[in-house]
Amino acid sequence: MSNAGVQLSEIRAELDRVAQEVGVDTQKITVSFERSDFNLRTEVAEVSDSLLVDAIAIAKRHIENWRIHTFEKSFLSIQALNENLFSTEALLDKIKVRISGLYGEKALEITKKGALLPQELSLIAALLKRALGRPRAADALAELAEMGCHVYRPGEKLADIAAFKRLREKLRETLILPLKNPEVYDKIARGTRSEFSLNRPRAVLFTGPPGTGKTTMARHVGKEAGLVVVHVPLENILSAYYGESTKRLAGIFDVAMTYREPLILFLDEIDALAPSRNEKLFEASRRLLSVLLRKIDGLETQSNIITVGATNRPQDLDSALLSRFDSILEFNEPAVEDICELLRFYAKQLTAEATLALARQMEGLSVRAIRDVCLRAERQLAREQIENKAGVPETPGADYYSRTLADYRLGRPDDRLGRQGEN
Ligand SMILES: Nc1ncnc2c1ncn2[C@@H]1O[C@H](COP(=O)(O)OP(=O)(O)OP(=O)(O)O)[C@@H](O)[C@H]1O
Ligand SMILES: [Mg+2]
Repeated sequence: MSNAGVQLSEIRAELDRVAQEVGVDTQKITVSFERSDFNLRTEVAEVSDSLLVDAIAIAKRHIENWRIHTFEKSFLSIQALNENLFSTEALLDKIKVRISGLYGEKALEITKKGALLPQELSLIAALLKRALGRPRAADALAELAEMGCHVYRPGEKLADIAAFKRLREKLRETLILPLKNPEVYDKIARGTRSEFSLNRPRAVLFTGPPGTGKTTMARHVGKEAGLVVVHVPLENILSAYYGESTKRLAGIFDVAMTYREPLILFLDEIDALAPSRNEKLFEASRRLLSVLLRKIDGLETQSNIITVGATNRPQDLDSALLSRFDSILEFNEPAVEDICELLRFYAKQLTAEATLALARQMEGLSVRAIRDVCLRAERQLAREQIENKAGVPETPGADYYSRTLADYRLGRPDDRLGRQGEN
C-alpha cells in the first residue's frame, strides 16, 4: 500500500458510518484488500435509471474524468481516467464502479488495483449513501406522475361522494386492512405454514356494469384510508408506439415498488388488455399482458402494494390475468337505501319522503344514470328560470326528477345542453 492510501480500518469506519446513516446492516457491505486490490460489494434494493444517472453525477463530483463502459437499463459500468485525459499511464488501475440490476442480481461493486485515495473513499461513501438509502417517498410519486400516472395523495382535495355503507365496508376489508396492517397477516401465515408464503391479497378486481362507481371508488378509497392511489393510464400506454408500451408499464411497476408506504396501483379499464380481434392491437396487448402478469407476480414480496383492476367486461379478460386476482369486488346498481344516500348528495333539498319515493322509482339505475337524471332536472329548471316562466321554484321539486327520470327511461336525450359534467 502506498503511503497516500487510506488504511483499511479507516475505510471500515467510514462504511460503518454510512451504513448507520442509511439504516442498513454494515455486514451487507463487504470489503477486501487482496494482494493490494481493493474490492467492495454490496447488494442494493433497486436498480433504477435514476440511480444510474445519479451515480455518474456523484462520480463526477469526486473525480473529474470518467469513461463510461456500459450504460444500459439496469447496468452501469464506469472507470476513472487520469487527470490528463490523454495520458494512458496506469489507466487500468483506476477506480471502477459497476452497478448491475441484471439477472436478478442487484449490486454495487467498486474495485481498484492498489490503495484507495481519500477522495476515492468519499466517492464510495456518497455512492453507497445513494444506492442504499431509501428513496424518499415523494420522489417515487413524482416519477410516477412524470410517467403519465395520476397520483391521488390522501391529503389531496377530491370532490366528496355519497357514502355507500356496504361497499365501503367491503373496500375496507379487501384493500385497506391488508395494506395498513401487513404484519398481522404475515404473523398468521408464519403460524400456519410449514413454509412462509403470503396470505395478503396482491390484486383485487372491481367488476360491475358501467356507471356503478368502480372508477370513482378506486380513486376515493385512498383518501379516507390515508393511502396513495396511482391511476395507471392503460389506454395511453397501449396506444404508445410499438415496444414502448411494455417498457412503460414495466417502468411504472418498478418505480411503484421503490415506494415504501402503502400504495394502490389502479389499472382502470383493464379489459383494454383483453384479447382483441384487431391483429395489430392483439400483438401489442398480448405483450403488455405478459408484462403485467409478471409484474403482478413480482408484487409477491412487496407488502405495501395492491393492484386494483377495474372492468365492466370481466368475461373478456384473459384467464391468466383473471386468476391473478385474489378477490373480486362486485359493484352493482345501488339498492334503494344507497340511492337515498345518492339523492341526499345530488338532491339535498328533497324531503325524506320525496327522496325515498324517488329512490324507489330509480331502482335498477346505475349511479351514473341517477346522477344524470339529477343533473338533467337541474338543467331543466335552469332553462325555465332563464325563460322566466311563472311559478318556477328555486330548486327542482320532486316532480322535476320524476319527469327527467321518465325522459331518461324513454331514452330521450337531454341534448339542449349536451352531456355536461360527464367523466
Ligand atoms: N359514491 C358516489 N357518490 C356520488 N357520485 C358517484 C358515486 N359513485 C359514482 N358516482 C358518479 O357516478 C358516475 C359514474 O361512476 P364511475 O365512472 O365511477 O363508474 P364506473 O363503474 O367506473 O363505470 P364504467 O364501467 O363505465 O367505467 C361518476 O360520474 C361519479 O361521479
Ligand atoms: Mg370506470
